[in-house]
Amino acid sequence: MAFRNHQSGRCLTIGHRGAAGLAAENTLPGFELAARLGVDAVELDIHWAHGALWVIHDATLERTTDGAGALEDSDFNTLRRLDAGAGAPIPLLEEVLAVIPASIGINIELKGKGCAAPAAAMLATHLERDLLVSSFDYGELQRFHRLRPEIPVAPLFSRWRPDAWRRAAQVEAWSINLAARIATDARINVAHERGFKVLVYTVNDPADAARLTRSGVDGLFTDFPNKIELASATS
Ligand code: G3P
Ligand code: MG
Repeated sequence: MAFRNHQSGRCLTIGHRGAAGLAAENTLPGFELAARLGVDAVELDIHWAHGALWVIHDATLERTTDGAGALEDSDFNTLRRLDAGAGAPIPLLEEVLAVIPASIGINIELKGKGCAAPAAAMLATHLERDLLVSSFDYGELQRFHRLRPEIPVAPLFSRWRPDAWRRAAQVEAWSINLAARIATDARINVAHERGFKVLVYTVNDPADAARLTRSGVDGLFTDFPNKIELASATS
């Protein structure tokens, strides 16, 4: 288990959007590849539209599919037929849960507005899974935490902000998830003193991975789980 029963000093390898540097991001083949490469966990992004939780990073279709416009301006069947890379469709969250082995953790990032309630409802039947729910949208994250307090959560920070510790405490965060440029030794140490793990994104350079591992981070998101041997490293 990656997140559940995580041992201090072990740096987890988390496949970012599956294995985004090696296969189409946020697609089933990408998640399956990450699993084959031996990641501890995968990260994915979700949006709520047309009664479904879609695994896609952007709220618009152009960058990662052959569609155009906003997800919400399409309809369910049109979205289902799109090519999200190498012929694979945009997966639904339940499809990813079905293909990822139970031994691999899943970090679900609440990306779009209104994801918290449907994700909390859907995950009620997956409580045995090793899950971590994160978001840059602290309102959504708090909503999710209130609805499903048994699933650990993590606020995401791309820039450091003075209210970071308050935000983390508010949701009884399991970890704070930081952009690599703000993951300083001092913040890592304070996080640990306050009882929060630290996960860092997006780390694709082995030298950065080694430095962060030595600094004691608990996990690294990477687009290249093949290139960066992080999993068994200890600080
Ligand atoms: O959760 C880490 C990372 O995925 C956050 O940024 O934009 O890749 O979703 P982004
Ligand atoms: Mg993400």
